[in-house]
Amino acid sequence: MNSPFDQTHNHLAWHSSKWEKYRDTGIIPLWVADMDFAVPPAVQTALAAHVEHGVLGYTRVPRNLPQLTQQYLQRQYGWAIDEVSLVWLPGLVLGINLAVRAVCAEGDAYATFTPVYPPFLDAAKNQARGLIALPLINQAMDFGIDFAALESSLAANPHARLLLICHPHNPVGKVWSADELRQLGTVVARHDLIVCSDEVHCDLILPDTLKHLPFALANPELAARTITLMGMGKTYNIAGLGVAFAVIENAELRAKFRTAMAHLVPDINAFGYTAMLAAMSDCEPWRQELLTYLRGNRDCVVATMKRLKIAVTRVDATYLAWLDCRHIPDAHAFFEQHGVGLSNGAPFGAAGFLRLNFACPRDLLNEALQRMTRALAII
Ligand SMILES: Cc1ncc(COP(=O)(O)O)c(C=O)c1O
Repeated sequence: MNSPFDQTHNHLAWHSSKWEKYRDTGIIPLWVADMDFAVPPAVQTALAAHVEHGVLGYTRVPRNLPQLTQQYLQRQYGWAIDEVSLVWLPGLVLGINLAVRAVCAEGDAYATFTPVYPPFLDAAKNQARGLIALPLINQAMDFGIDFAALESSLAANPHARLLLICHPHNPVGKVWSADELRQLGTVVARHDLIVCSDEVHCDLILPDTLKHLPFALANPELAARTITLMGMGKTYNIAGLGVAFAVIENAELRAKFRTAMAHLVPDINAFGYTAMLAAMSDCEPWRQELLTYLRGNRDCVVATMKRLKIAVTRVDATYLAWLDCRHIPDAHAFFEQHGVGLSNGAPFGAAGFLRLNFACPRDLLNEALQRMTRALAII
């Protein structure tokens, strides 16, 4: 064993969603976006101390958390925010739905780009709001924004109020550039929209040459009409604790968002705060090691897909590879039958594509890739 990320764990002992789905089937689960790795040691130590203390009543936002978050955003992205802009959330699917509900009245609509993380699309049904789903342009699995289609759809939809973006983008692994973000900003200003930018994958950028640029920082003149969603759940693998936050610099917009939350949304749980404090303070070396390991796993996936003639994204961010399997009939069921459980593209708005989560020990990943190779050798 060369790396802590090579270590295997009994995920069924604590009911992991990812593993429970395929319990007793032998199928390797490479679907939902959490990692098979233990949390950073600093997070584990902080949680153990909290359990040891043994008191678990109602818990306030730790007094040092807003300042730590402010420092984290400054350090990681050079983004200076005011502490009052922070809204703590026990999850980001919640944040997406709150943004849709707070910004769009009944009869209004929001626009988003597909394929996309399914809750971006589901929020329309859940909140009874209109959806303008705009396909990204796919140029040999390098995805881009169709600005002309965005302009004409917005011009044709006077009820559009919100643009919901995923940055970096799940599932296509794209880090939107400063130019793309500014071009989006121009469209947003022209159509008088609010932006909700889900940036939960922002600390999982794989190439050293790329840096995360928050939408609100790329478009400072639009900061007052931006809701940025962030969280520690993906990067530090604490999705089970429900830890996230929104940055909403405009007091009026923040008040609307809080009104949508009132008495429906619980506080972050006590362990969530503890884990978030540790993740923000002490885990940068762990994150760097994680990125190195993920780059290696990504390279294994890309090399295998090349051999299998399955077109795949470059994966600049996230630990999710997006595979074009339109030539394989019922590809999702096909790979399940051969022992690999991937995410089906249809709920992302792209039937025939599959999403492969490569955040697992390399031996397990290689076993899954071999199964896919053997499966394709026999059709
Ligand atoms: C873009 C995006 N937003 C939100 C989430 C989920 O966040 P949470 O677990 O905090 O609800 C995910 C999970 O994969 C995601 O990819």
